[in-house]
Amino acid sequence: MNGSEELRKKYLNFFEKKKHKVIDSYSLIPDNDPSVLFTTAGMHPLVPFLIGHKHPLGDRIVNVQKCIRTGDIEDVGDDVHFTFFEMLGNWSFGDYFKEESIKMSYEFLVKDLGFSKDKLAVSCFRGSKHAPKDEDSAKVWLDLGFSQDRIAFLSKKENWWGPAGQTGPCGPDTEIFYWNSEKKVPIKFDFEDSNWVEIWNNVFMEYDKQKNGDMIPLKQKNVDTGMGLERVAMILEKVDNVYEIASIKPIFDKVKDIAGLKKLSKEQIKSVRIIVDHMRAATFILGDNKRIVPSNLDQGYILRRFIRRAIRHLRILGVDIYNNIFTPKIAEIIINNFGKTYCELIENKEFIISELKKEEENFKKTLEKGLRKFNLMAKDGKINAEEAFFLFQTYGFPVELIAEFGKEKGIVVDVKGFDKEF
Ligand code: SER
Repeated sequence: MNGSEELRKKYLNFFEKKKHKVIDSYSLIPDNDPSVLFTTAGMHPLVPFLIGHKHPLGDRIVNVQKCIRTGDIEDVGDDVHFTFFEMLGNWSFGDYFKEESIKMSYEFLVKDLGFSKDKLAVSCFRGSKHAPKDEDSAKVWLDLGFSQDRIAFLSKKENWWGPAGQTGPCGPDTEIFYWNSEKKVPIKFDFEDSNWVEIWNNVFMEYDKQKNGDMIPLKQKNVDTGMGLERVAMILEKVDNVYEIASIKPIFDKVKDIAGLKKLSKEQIKSVRIIVDHMRAATFILGDNKRIVPSNLDQGYILRRFIRRAIRHLRILGVDIYNNIFTPKIAEIIINNFGKTYCELIENKEFIISELKKEEENFKKTLEKGLRKFNLMAKDGKINAEEAFFLFQTYGFPVELIAEFGKEKGIVVDVKGFDKEF
């Protein structure tokens, strides 16, 4: 069974029965927010309806949204993080609020998906100068039979969501965690214990953040939820990391195959995961109808970084990158696995493949020359901002690539200075 496909269907059906209208995923590239490069959450394209405009389909919406969070790039390689992921989300635009939202989430997880309640825990907002402690949500969880031990009150850093850009709708949230380990479930929920995996976030959007930081109450009280499809599929498919789920594993295996590796070390697993994640993100960006291409600016630059970092990790795995073109081969598997759900990948297949081929060829043309220059510059033990910028401009080395080369050789790279220069 492909758990992701089944999960998408179950989720949409469940909320359809609860009177939600299903909408398609929006583009990965936001239409109405120049302050963010990618759609980072399902709510992002829905901001107009959260601030009071009427949605033509009503006050209850559900979808599965393609998202990219570049902020998570450093975590890619662990068991549960991706930069590109699918978010299952349901919304109330001034219709139901905390109680109904939490009860629906609980019903879906426990009744429809069959999650054991004993393996669930939640966090609620502790309160700040902006908003009071969220006793209302905690009460609903208590009424559903959760013990005090399984309800943690956390700070704004953990239990406040949004806005997606610099201004806009935001509010306190309650997050749901699942005990994803063979070990006995502890009685008390410890948010710091990574065996508790966050799976679903219910945000109660009551505020509109202004440019000056003020929070003014919104005209209506909204609900914005987001559940990580891959994490929930991981639990349903009983595998211990998101790279093992049925929709992702063939990509992982393909990379392993390209590298000619049977048994992987910890470091090699991390490299394979980075390649899988970055290639999936790159394939979906290229596959988006907005037709972004690799460049040194905005989304194009992020795309370039994904592709080039993936190639670099192929090199780390010992692949003779000069003897063939690899990224289109990995993309083919991704298009096959996801094209049924996201038909734009099929429609844009030729474009995806030809852009990857071009970018891979371009990068390889400058990689060795750039590395030689890097070694010369690094003779004094550091790469300063100007040097890093030169490597970026002349050889197309994204800064984290320069930092990675530096780390390998024990050379300090002035990334902050680069960013300033950039
Ligand atoms: N916007 C919230 C999040 O991204 C819920 O979807 O976590």
